[in-house]
Amino acid sequence: MKKSLKVLLLMILALGLVACGSSTTTTETTTETTTETTETADAATGSALEKIKADGKLVLGTSADYPPYEWHQIDGANDEIVGVDIEIAKAIAEHLGVALEIKDMSFDGLIAALNVGDMDMVLAGMAADEERAKVVDFSDAYNETEQVLLVREEDKDKYTSADQLNGLKIGVQLGTTQDAYANENFDAEVTALQDNNNLVMELKNKSLDVIFFSKTAAEKFAAMQDGLVVVDIGVPNEPGFSVAVKKGDTALLQEINTVIAELNANGQVEQWLDQYMKLGE
Ligand code: ARG
Repeated sequence: MKKSLKVLLLMILALGLVACGSSTTTTETTTETTTETTETADAATGSALEKIKADGKLVLGTSADYPPYEWHQIDGANDEIVGVDIEIAKAIAEHLGVALEIKDMSFDGLIAALNVGDMDMVLAGMAADEERAKVVDFSDAYNETEQVLLVREEDKDKYTSADQLNGLKIGVQLGTTQDAYANENFDAEVTALQDNNNLVMELKNKSLDVIFFSKTAAEKFAAMQDGLVVVDIGVPNEPGFSVAVKKGDTALLQEINTVIAELNANGQVEQWLDQYMKLGE
């Protein structure tokens, strides 16, 4: 009896957290009646791609705590999610001729949300790793990055290799490739938090010794915050960053790959990386 009450309470708490943790921005609206009729027709025949076209909108899932890929750029009362992934998502929406809607939530919930149909695709600086590829389909990669440490400036010469991390308090973002790698490879106390901004705060107030991070994001946090620097300890790269779609959404994935091939070939992704590394400096 007691146990089931506890479980129930935990479930209520979890639901509350999910409700608080997500928000939605729509850039365009479709009229209710048309959406409803086309939805029924598509349910009988259709692919995710057909539904997106019929609805006139593509829903992106992301976790906007990962600059320069996606973060909240706050300017007075204006709070906008910006970054390289958002530009890529916009290019995909434009290619499909539909509006883009952004759902922002914590990184560790994205794959489950994609698989229950809360969104059509995920761009979140997500590495196309083997474990994830068992449950979602990935596009071709649009970016590659190393894995590094983010440390307080006074510690910048302290760590030069992974074995110096033994016994340290290492912070990682929950559910990331860094979370898995650190737990498997470092003989340290690994703390996984949901939000990168909180990780950075814990590093600054010395509750953590280091953060194990993707290099590009670490560099951007170091540029945005005083007193933090990036240190390379020679850890292998994580798999390339790719767009995730629900398993079997092949028609949609094909369109996404067409856009990515173009953006990679004409240097547009690199250009956005440059642009967003500089934004807000
Ligand atoms: N690249 C890492 C991974 O794939 C971390 C991604 C975190 N992304 C985010 N939007 N917070 O697991």
